[in-house]
Amino acid sequence: MESYSYKITGGKPLKGHVNISGSKNAVLGILAASMMVDGTCTLENVPDISDVHVMVKICESLGAKIETELAPEGSVTLHIDPRGIDTYKATDPGVSKIRASYYLLGALLGRCGKASLRMPGGCDFGQRPIDLHLKAFRLMGAKGADYRNINGGIITLNADPLRGAKIFLDIVSVGATINVMLAAAKAQGNTTIVNAAKEPHIVDVANFLNAMGARIKGAGTDTIKIQGVSTLPGNFTYSIIPDQIEAGTYMIAAAVTNGDVTVHNIIPTHMDPLSSKMREMGYTIDEGDDYVRVYRDPEEQIWGTNVKTAPYPGFPTDLQPQTVVLLCLSQGQSKMDEDVWENRYQYIPELIRMGANINIFDHVALVNGIDHFNCAQVKATDLRAGAALVCAALAADGTTYIDEARRIDRGYEKIVDKLKSLGADIEVASSVGFYVDTEA
Ligand code: EPZ
Repeated sequence: MESYSYKITGGKPLKGHVNISGSKNAVLGILAASMMVDGTCTLENVPDISDVHVMVKICESLGAKIETELAPEGSVTLHIDPRGIDTYKATDPGVSKIRASYYLLGALLGRCGKASLRMPGGCDFGQRPIDLHLKAFRLMGAKGADYRNINGGIITLNADPLRGAKIFLDIVSVGATINVMLAAAKAQGNTTIVNAAKEPHIVDVANFLNAMGARIKGAGTDTIKIQGVSTLPGNFTYSIIPDQIEAGTYMIAAAVTNGDVTVHNIIPTHMDPLSSKMREMGYTIDEGDDYVRVYRDPEEQIWGTNVKTAPYPGFPTDLQPQTVVLLCLSQGQSKMDEDVWENRYQYIPELIRMGANINIFDHVALVNGIDHFNCAQVKATDLRAGAALVCAALAADGTTYIDEARRIDRGYEKIVDKLKSLGADIEVASSVGFYVDTEA
């Protein structure tokens, strides 16, 4: 069923325990990296989400064998054997559906010194260039796509040989950092990435590459050093880190419904940027080794605050839409400053249909607190926008329909089951078809 909605009847506090799945933005880079292994490998704690399904299909179209095993706790284990790869061209249509398909440029360059794929897809926040990736590959000896004109939307790179280089990223880029690590793992000589991204998923991809036999140091800092090797033996099992953004989404869903939820299977320090903001607003966040508990003292006023997104350890842009929902239900005026993407407020008109009071000035959203959301028919304009609308619908009295719900399933494993287990009234409904003008 391609197009469907989520039907949510809100106004119920979420209560109980939820387990967080493996990180989408780690596993997509790790799947590409696994195409470079000279043996086999097993990935555990893989989230069962549509972006992973798309990436697995692209890898299989190259010739890799990937066996999927359902793990007891509902996640997925992948048994990967890329030794059958017989092409450097990723032509599967899925390449244009997700952003992370571009990691195959680095992986195929590293594997065979050549790579060809069409421009990647992904959430529409504006232009989403890949100039940093291509400039880096060119410094490493790759001939081909000039980032100024990618003819016909196909990128073809040829590096004979692929050499290590010093790469300065003039913008902190998650994708470019991961892509360069992939290519550099098997390049001749050493590579240094300066001004590298430091997100938890960067560290996870580096740890996976090192488990394969790569020699990477400094992941998680702004300078990463990679010593190229000739083989990546593999033959190991690796478990994906928990998803920081899924965890933050459930923390916010608990807060906006005045609930009491313990979010399990996480790395609490990854949540610091959000936890500190929520405490500042008046929520209580208790932390354990691998969980956080979110609740509030009913006597406690919830005050607005100011948030500015930035590369890790700054406030994650992927929690920006969900956090605006939290700010809507706080006292006073708040400011959200989106400093990573140039156009990541496309969901705001949908929130305004639910009663939000928000004004946008370039990359700043001024949020005036309201005491409740109204139910409405809305649509998920992208993955995290959809997650934000789920939070607003859970807080609103009455029944909200969120169309294009497939976009939410790109990054949230079993979100309907997980929310139901917390007491939410949510179900899949057929697409409502937009917009029925209720005033008519
Ligand atoms: C990754 O996208 C994530 N996607 C995004 O999450 C996330 O929003 C983003 O990192 C920032 O954290 C995946 O990991 C699959 P960037 P990516 O390169 O790599 C500019 C989600 O919701 N830039 O760090 O595409 C770019 O325009 C998704 O899970 C260039 O100018 O992001 C942006 O302003 C949405 N040239 C900034 O850098 C380039 O060559 C950061 O982008 C590359 C990026």
